[in-house]
Amino acid sequence: MNVVDALYHRRSIRQFEDREIPPDVLERVLDHALQSPSGGNTQPYRIAVATGQVRQEIRDELCAKYDRASQVKKMALPLKLWHGVTGNILPDGDYNPDVKYPQELRERKFDCGMGLYETLGIERKDYQARDRQMRRNFEFFDAPAVIFVYINKALGVYSALDAGIFLQSLMLAAQEEGLGTCPQGALAVWGSPVRKRFNVDPDYKLICGLSIGYPGGHAVNRYAPEKRSRDTVILKPA
Ligand SMILES: Cc1cc2nc3c(=O)[nH]c(=O)nc-3n(C[C@H](O)[C@H](O)[C@H](O)COP(=O)(O)O)c2cc1C
Repeated sequence: MNVVDALYHRRSIRQFEDREIPPDVLERVLDHALQSPSGGNTQPYRIAVATGQVRQEIRDELCAKYDRASQVKKMALPLKLWHGVTGNILPDGDYNPDVKYPQELRERKFDCGMGLYETLGIERKDYQARDRQMRRNFEFFDAPAVIFVYINKALGVYSALDAGIFLQSLMLAAQEEGLGTCPQGALAVWGSPVRKRFNVDPDYKLICGLSIGYPGGHAVNRYAPEKRSRDTVILKPA
């Protein structure tokens, strides 16, 4: 597969086969991704690779938090606050991935979400089904491995930039091995389930997760939201 083919054929994968990734394959993908450029060649990111039992434990803990949070969300305000605080379900991630999109980007985000629901046969107003789909994030879409990405806080946006380049390399290298990936901001909502199972330096902050495994045959994996055309990103001369 050449780079251009890989760029056009990569899709976010949201249903994985129940099949482990051989350790040497995963190691190869990571080694390839580590060839990425970075500011001053510092590669200011660290990754927690969760497979097997650890992955299962993190998944269980995230899903339990998600389930409790979904119940609490439906309660009246005072109860919501009470259960939010006492139920240990308030987001404890290092960053807030649930950002408020500015108006000019909101439409694309909305269309992307609706397109995904349509592919999954979920009606716009079927909030239960939407909730279940959101939960799939915390189930890692059944991927056998999940990679949590941390960036050095001192570098601010620059370490995020380096980590983003690393992630794209990782996704393309994964494709070369027949693997699929889904980068997931959602996996940064709660930080404690991962941090307590890995030796993470306090200077490193969780920015996102990435599910990785062999893609399953579900139609959701063929969902291909339209990319911007060149003229919508190139600025016009002043
Ligand atoms: C930083 C980042 C965070 C994302 N977070 C999520 C997520 O939490 N859940 C999810 O299902 N997809 C997530 N995605 C996948 C995007 O929805 C997807 O990349 C976009 O719709 C374009 O589709 P494509 O990846 O198939 O080209 C994320 C992608 C990126 C780059």
